[in-house]
Amino acid sequence: MNIILIGSGGREHALAWKMAQSQACEQLFIIPGNAGTAECGTNVAINPLDFPAIKDFALANAVDLCVVGPEAPLVEGIYDFFQNDQTLAHIKVIGPSKEGAQLEGSKAYAKQFMAEFGIPTAAYREFTPDTLQEGLNYIEQQATPIVLKADGLAAGKGVLIIDDIEEAKKALIEMLGGKFGAASKKVVIEAFLSGIEFSVFALTDGKDYKILPIAKDYKRIGEGDTGLNTGGMGAVSPVPFVDDALFQKVEDRIIRPTINGLHHKGIDYKGFVFFGLISVNGDPYVIEYNCRMGDPETEVVIPRLQNDLVDLFDAVYKGDLSEKEIVIDERAATTVMLVSGGYPEAYEKGKIIYNLESVEDSILFHAGTKEVSGQILTNGGRVIAVSSYGPHFEAALEISNQNAAKIDFAGKNYRRDIGLDLKAK
Ligand code: AMP
Ligand code: GLY
Repeated sequence: MNIILIGSGGREHALAWKMAQSQACEQLFIIPGNAGTAECGTNVAINPLDFPAIKDFALANAVDLCVVGPEAPLVEGIYDFFQNDQTLAHIKVIGPSKEGAQLEGSKAYAKQFMAEFGIPTAAYREFTPDTLQEGLNYIEQQATPIVLKADGLAAGKGVLIIDDIEEAKKALIEMLGGKFGAASKKVVIEAFLSGIEFSVFALTDGKDYKILPIAKDYKRIGEGDTGLNTGGMGAVSPVPFVDDALFQKVEDRIIRPTINGLHHKGIDYKGFVFFGLISVNGDPYVIEYNCRMGDPETEVVIPRLQNDLVDLFDAVYKGDLSEKEIVIDERAATTVMLVSGGYPEAYEKGKIIYNLESVEDSILFHAGTKEVSGQILTNGGRVIAVSSYGPHFEAALEISNQNAAKIDFAGKNYRRDIGLDLKAK
């Protein structure tokens, strides 16, 4: 099979690494990829949102399968673009239709979907500029903290958790006034849930589904979960506090009703569903849906998945996903993200990365790198995910931390405590 993978982060390097191991993978092209994905296949410099250019490339290279990593092309309708074009319709696209991608692309859509199918989530109301006054009245009746969410994609910045009623009212006025552009022309206000978060992933053909290893990511820049939010500083899998009882509730109350709901609504969904969950005293609630894999969760989930990933993607289209059995490596995996100095605020790119060849016993997934005349340079806030296995996640962390210390670039920063808080849980 000739395969296109769309995206350029650590998630995509992990997916490329895994697909390149498949017998069925003949040629792998990554659009646009990074210095790490170049070791698994051929990088192709096309913008992931330039669908006509992707079409030309796919046709010229007899592509059979197109795996979409990030949300933006999905929310923009890349699946429908392929489906609706006679010349492309034979290509299997892994990723939901535009409507399915609304689970991530519109918070209001996701909340309505959960309400329709009785899926547990925080109580909410949605407001637009026309209903601003109702929104302000609503806020006055709520307990704090209160959660305000821009309806649309806002580069991970569209969620505000506010402790003060007056401040929340101000924030609503700003958001509906266009603080996040079109993304906040509708705002979801929801109750704050107190608990511990974790990430569950399913691969679905829109009817059946398979659950992948469970993970937890660490979003704050600082050790002890302090400081600014980032795209993710590390992740672990499995998650010790997700025991059989909690897992069963997740499947019964959330995963199955979600997939059945998609099917019931006739939504074409052949791809990953990312359930961002929170356990509130042992009961799971949905914080958010994403229509893709998580990053950096993929960098621990994929290394623990023993199945042939291309074979699973094939099953999504053959309709025999239900016959596949997911085989999971029993070892724990931990990933530690090396980030650029200053991230998640302003940072510099183009720093030379040294000592990659000295790394032993870890898998390096490049997140923001590029190769220039034989040298690997930093090319983003998140630079490299250092993933390791261990009998338990502390052992895996130790290996990742040792290798994180060896790799060097100017301004390198990373957290040394990924997963350690789970010891007590
Ligand atoms: P999101 O962009 O939906 O992932 O939200 C960003 C983060 O805000 C989540 O990962 C949670 O940590 C937090 N969050 C969102 N909604 C809630 C909620 N209802 N209760 C508590 N925390 C929340
Ligand atoms: N790690 C969270 C995300 O990918 O959205």
